[in-house]
Amino acid sequence: MNGRPESGLTAAEAVLSRAASCRTWSQLAEAARLCTACPDLVVSRSSVVVGDAPHGCRLVLIGEAPGAEEDISGRPFVGRSGRLLDELLDGAGLDRGEIAVLNVVKCRPPRNRTPRSAETRNCSGWLNRQLDLLGAELICTLGLSATQHLLGRGLRLATARGRVHQAPAGRVVVTYHPSAALRFGPRGAPREALATDLGMIADLLAAR
Ligand code: URA
Repeated sequence: MNGRPESGLTAAEAVLSRAASCRTWSQLAEAARLCTACPDLVVSRSSVVVGDAPHGCRLVLIGEAPGAEEDISGRPFVGRSGRLLDELLDGAGLDRGEIAVLNVVKCRPPRNRTPRSAETRNCSGWLNRQLDLLGAELICTLGLSATQHLLGRGLRLATARGRVHQAPAGRVVVTYHPSAALRFGPRGAPREALATDLGMIADLLAAR
């Protein structure tokens, strides 16, 4: 599926078309697990981390890409960032068991490097179809990769957070990635911002 193969489709177009043909979450999960759009990621991955999607979820969280623990377990946000995320969700009164958790890129980039733009482009067909199928009330982007993916380049987290954005994918709230909160420590601004933003999300959901 890389380059422009006999089908005449680029890798990103082939993903888009395959994802569009999926009518259910389980069809999509099965198809995504077979994806070979990004050769560098295919050779190094242990699993395709499709994401968690509890039935009837009202909220979707979107991170960047799986790390080492996610690659091994096949589940998103189960490593250090995930443990902090769970703690902050708990603090905001949000139940992770009722929240969909996805990533922009479904395979772990080697040594946790930032996903390349071609990888993000290739994977976007899966993410966009996942958002269609879920039809959640609210999407929360964790960090710049997910934010720019949904709201466009040129946005800064510090100015984009604290309000609801209307995007083609739905209503979006922007916040920091838990890894930023880990980097700046328990008294750092990203952790406080994340706690505040998750609190705002809980209020928005409670008001509907
Ligand atoms: N960071 C992410 O962006 N996603 C994960 O699933 C884990 C860490």
